[in-house]
Amino acid sequence: MSTQHKNLTQTPLLKILLLWMGCNLNHGKGSSVPQFCNSPTVIVMVGLPARGKTYISKKLTRYLNWIGVPTKVFNVGQYRREAVKTYKNFEFFKPDNEEAMRIRKACASAALKDVAAYFTKEYGQVAVFDATNTTRERRAVISSFAKERGYKVFFVESICDDPEIITENIKQVKFGSPDYIDRDIEEAMTDFVQRIECYKASYTSIDDEKDRKLSYIKIFDVGSRYLVNRVQDHIQSRIVYYLMNIHVTPRSIYLSRHGESELNLLGRIGGDSGLSPRGLKYADALAVFIRGQQIKDLKVWTSHMKRTIQTAEALGVQYEQWKALNEIDAGVCEELTYEEIQENFPEEFAMRDQEKYRYRYPKGESYEDLVHRLEPVIMELERQENVLVICHQAIMRCLIAYFLDKPADELPYLRCPLHTVLKLTPVAYGCKVESFFLNIEAVNTHREKPTNVTISRKSDEALQTVPKHN
Ligand code: G3H
Repeated sequence: MSTQHKNLTQTPLLKILLLWMGCNLNHGKGSSVPQFCNSPTVIVMVGLPARGKTYISKKLTRYLNWIGVPTKVFNVGQYRREAVKTYKNFEFFKPDNEEAMRIRKACASAALKDVAAYFTKEYGQVAVFDATNTTRERRAVISSFAKERGYKVFFVESICDDPEIITENIKQVKFGSPDYIDRDIEEAMTDFVQRIECYKASYTSIDDEKDRKLSYIKIFDVGSRYLVNRVQDHIQSRIVYYLMNIHVTPRSIYLSRHGESELNLLGRIGGDSGLSPRGLKYADALAVFIRGQQIKDLKVWTSHMKRTIQTAEALGVQYEQWKALNEIDAGVCEELTYEEIQENFPEEFAMRDQEKYRYRYPKGESYEDLVHRLEPVIMELERQENVLVICHQAIMRCLIAYFLDKPADELPYLRCPLHTVLKLTPVAYGCKVESFFLNIEAVNTHREKPTNVTISRKSDEALQTVPKHN
């Protein structure tokens, strides 16, 4: 007897159930990629040039990827630069420049086509459409493109009329833009201001009355005020929450592990031991280093673990303890050496090497769990200014991955040596990184991925990359 396999989503009852669950039944039709049960979302940036759209796009994308939502920016300016290799001047953006207008429309359409391909072929869930999108007609085109395909649309409009902020923004990012490479600064500034004027002629802000059916957030004067309308789902509410927490005030974030611990010396993971004599020396050296930095209103955060608290104590300042900053819980492997893990749980050890980011210790945690546990920490770091975070190896890896946009497969192998401070200072679209080794020797606790990660590997292959210890 032969069985006919029917596409189950054609069954009326199931169709209703899936629609009720928010599933997009059209998404991915005809392709072999897995179907996501959530409609993909297009975030549409709106606003005049130099209002921080690209900054927001990049930062939001980094955050969404870090929390595990595959997201990509589609910057129409880049498509234009590829289409028109050399940029002459603002006249390209004049509303009556028909040839240029045709090119710009073609670039926007190409970018939208790529958005669709990203959702259907690359498992993307959020696309950030970074263009000025200053006209209602343009926004209507994007909305109907999305509606036809079952995508959700969320508009992010950045509104700012403060000339100082605008000039600062132009200086910070536009002079680094390929459009102005090797141009005189004054000349570039004048051209860019005229370019903004070209957009002003046709700019219509999202209208709270006419556009009341749209989902959007308006950000006024880089976050001094917000207006939020019709948040449709969980992802949009997280986006809104994130955008309402970020700021652009200059500051630095200092990351450090605790001083070397007694268990570090023995090559044992986890536990809650105190500092070794060298660890105590590091705590003092850290205090001297931090004083030397002369940081305004520094906040100091530790975990709830003895080794971070002992390290912070040497600073002689107030500090805040966060349970969320505790080291990864290694479950049944707590306080074991890597050699003992191999001896007692060889299969677990191999499985961890196969997919370290997702691997969860029995009765313990994975790096993926840590990222979720750390989200409130990241949100508070975004809200704060200068902060020193005294934490642990696995935690520091997750924090670095967020700030430096490192993918999940690299995250568990990021190098965070003991007795080294990492200073992260936001600049333009990224972070300046400075590393300070404070000259106090410490054991190496970094174990690289070994060559052989199979369950059947021999013990010496599993232990190939274990660092030396007492
Ligand atoms: O288990 C505690 C360590 O600090 C994390 O190291 O994830 O590289 O094994 P690992």
